[in-house]
Amino acid sequence: MTAHEALDGLGRSGIREVMDLAATLSDVVHLEIGEPDFPTPPHVVEAAQRALASGAVKYTLSRGEPALRDALAEKLRRANGIEATAESVVVTAGGTAAVFGALTAVTRPGDAVLLPDPGWPAFELIAQLAGAVVRRYRLRPELGFEPDLDELDSLAGDACVIVLNSPSNPTGAVSSRETVEGVLELAARHGLVVLSDEVYEQIVFEGEHVSRASATSPREPRSSTPSCACRRPWSPARPGWDSGRRWPHSRDHRR
Ligand SMILES: Cc1ncc(COP(=O)(O)O)c(C=O)c1O
Repeated sequence: MTAHEALDGLGRSGIREVMDLAATLSDVVHLEIGEPDFPTPPHVVEAAQRALASGAVKYTLSRGEPALRDALAEKLRRANGIEATAESVVVTAGGTAAVFGALTAVTRPGDAVLLPDPGWPAFELIAQLAGAVVRRYRLRPELGFEPDLDELDSLAGDACVIVLNSPSNPTGAVSSRETVEGVLELAARHGLVVLSDEVYEQIVFEGEHVSRASATSPREPRSSTPSCACRRPWSPARPGWDSGRRWPHSRDHRR
């Protein structure tokens, strides 16, 4: 399938349709885009101004500035218990690009990808662009919007990738350690790549965020942890990043 063909069949994100509509109205409460309700802190604005004034307006390395990758790796080790080094971090233009890069790197046309439902619409759009077959796993209110491991087991058969998103957009649910470990065990058993989107790791009202990389699994899962600073109020200048190990394509890597 060519990129053209993949784009042909692609719908629009409903979020953007609502946003377009809202832009035509004057008195609306915006509940579509996750825009923080506080301004960018002055030290961030000043650092950006200083960088621009000092001439930091040239191409960077395509994986991102070494100093930034070092700082991100240090954060992943300290806050998430992930044994990251600057080598295992790639800086992207926002979290969407990190998810796009990770998902398209591990799927080939026809691969089945397990996505949360309800879930962030871009997961499905990106999977469609990659030519993947989308299989949705339900997040039911009666289970606290946690994945149902039995349902996942029945969907995982010939799938290649599972996307986890905790804390979740849109439900806000935070997966327990038991759930994260259960999904990792299942993924290891079925040979699935785990793509763990933890972009909202610092928006937790109840419970504790468990990074998939700090959870244990009986076998080493192959996984990637895209993350970005969504809770921070500097949307226009927001970087994303992706940390994961290198692996060949998921199908080449199964069992
Ligand atoms: C679950 C999830 N992942 C990733 C992103 C990436 O966001 P951005 O590309 O704006 O950094 C978002 C933003 O809404 C999101 O909800």
